[in-house]
Amino acid sequence: MIKNDQTPLLENSYSVLISEDKIQQRLAELGKEMAEAYAGETPILIGVLNGGFIFLADLIRYINIDCEIDFVRVSSYGDAKESSGHIKVLKPLSADIKGRHVIVVEDIVDSGLSVKFLIKMLSAFEPASLKVATLLRKKPRLKIDLPIDFVGFDIEDKFVIGYGLDDQQVKRNLRAIYIVEE
Ligand code: PRP
Repeated sequence: MIKNDQTPLLENSYSVLISEDKIQQRLAELGKEMAEAYAGETPILIGVLNGGFIFLADLIRYINIDCEIDFVRVSSYGDAKESSGHIKVLKPLSADIKGRHVIVVEDIVDSGLSVKFLIKMLSAFEPASLKVATLLRKKPRLKIDLPIDFVGFDIEDKFVIGYGLDDQQVKRNLRAIYIVEE
């Protein structure tokens, strides 16, 4: 596979936390798990913009059963590094999820407030089931007891970027996940 050099995007303060290969390996496992869990169904995966777009795009190519996608956009952080706790819906759901098997797809669960908000919001549409997949989970930062059904990686409490995650809106296009050293 042709892969260009991403050095121009990197800064001295970045160190690799999860390599591109490790991400893809884990996605293959998650995709298999999901295909087994939803065998005979056509689940709908709801990507949480902006950060979740790359994870969703890669993940569905490892789920070898029919599935649909939709997106919502909520924002809690803006350009800040700490969740404000005030979550706004910037783009509502388009699909009708009543009676459907829904999987919310997040890039990261940090405080957990966004997912908590999304679960409440989406439950109101009466899906047949509602599960959550996240690529990253920062367990030490979780403010609520939140069961997450599919977790890519549990990570320490560091500011991470790449693979959809931004640093003031840029760096989402890095193929690995990096720690930004303070
Ligand atoms: C980030 C991330 C999650 C949320 C997680 O979104 O994509 O949606 O924060 O944080 P929490 O668990 O503390 O609620 P952000 O608001 O930064 O928007 P973005 O996805 O557009 O970067």
